[in-house]
Amino acid sequence: MESLREYDYGVEALCGGMCSCATCHCYIDADWSAKLGPRSDDEEELLEELESFRDTSRLTCQVPFTDELDGLRVTIAPEE
Ligand code: FES
Repeated sequence: MESLREYDYGVEALCGGMCSCATCHCYIDADWSAKLGPRSDDEEELLEELESFRDTSRLTCQVPFTDELDGLRVTIAPEE
């Protein structure tokens, strides 16, 4: 989330990573989904409220970025 926000890719991240705004919602490319940990209950709950929710949805503020995710491909979800 911080990289997407910092480079002005259209991720607002209004709550600053507190898992309460969903403005960091992105879709993770299928090839990468398995490399991310599972969603927390809070993340899942917030995502399910969105019309744009998909199986590949993640709140990027809830995805710890590690070296293994170098090259991760995401698509920024539409604003709601
Ligand atoms: S920045 Fe608000 S939920 Fe991710």
